[in-house]
Amino acid sequence: MLTHIYRIVFGMGLAIVFILLNPSQAWAQAILAAHTNPDTLAKAVQEIEQLDSLRSGLASSLEGRTEEPTMQTMKEVCKPVGMRAMQLSQENGWQVKQISGKYRNPAHAPDTLQSKLALARFEQNPELMGFWERETLNDQEGTRYYRRINVEASCLSCHGLKNNRPQVVKDNYPQDLAYDFQVGDLRGMYAVFIPDVKDALQQALRE
Ligand code: HEC
Repeated sequence: MLTHIYRIVFGMGLAIVFILLNPSQAWAQAILAAHTNPDTLAKAVQEIEQLDSLRSGLASSLEGRTEEPTMQTMKEVCKPVGMRAMQLSQENGWQVKQISGKYRNPAHAPDTLQSKLALARFEQNPELMGFWERETLNDQEGTRYYRRINVEASCLSCHGLKNNRPQVVKDNYPQDLAYDFQVGDLRGMYAVFIPDVKDALQQALRE
């Protein structure tokens, strides 16, 4: 009996020390451990790093070109990123999105209050690269991982001055808001929603 109590007190003490050392992270870890598999989260983080490198690589491969981007070159930069995001969603049962307050494709507008707050948080904290939160999306509980997207020099041929946008952008996106950016600006963010496994299982059983 006594050893039992000692063990509980010791366990609580350890938890408190951990929380004091790194409060937000410790809580986040503790909450996440109960829901999202840490390996899954690590995988999401890694996939998004690759997705972001894909875009940077494609954009910088255009930099040397002097001719104005055509329909063909347009297909070579941000469209493939959207397509890969869709593929990641299907492969993993996640929802992978790009979100921006100044969007070009209306499908990328902020979708929830939390996503607006996440954008504001990135805007206010230029050093913040990413974070995750517990959220409910379309009636499903899960973890949503957010990762910032910064403007690089290679982006400006299509996201720079309004009048300098390629004709094909002007033609295809009449309600475009994604221009007048400068290097280092927040362009938007990736948002990966990972539904809780328990929910996903229950849903599968129901179907
Ligand atoms: C060749 C032109 C071109 C270049 C260069 C380019 N983009 Fe885009 N970008 C687009 C187009 C077109 C879309 C809309 C794609 C769609 O319909 O999904 C877009 C969409 C986006 C989106 C999704 C949100 C939205 O506004 O719809 C982000 C984020 C983005 N671009 C970031 C970047 C970054 C960062 C770079 C530089 C590393 C870059 N882009 C370079 C043309 C370009």
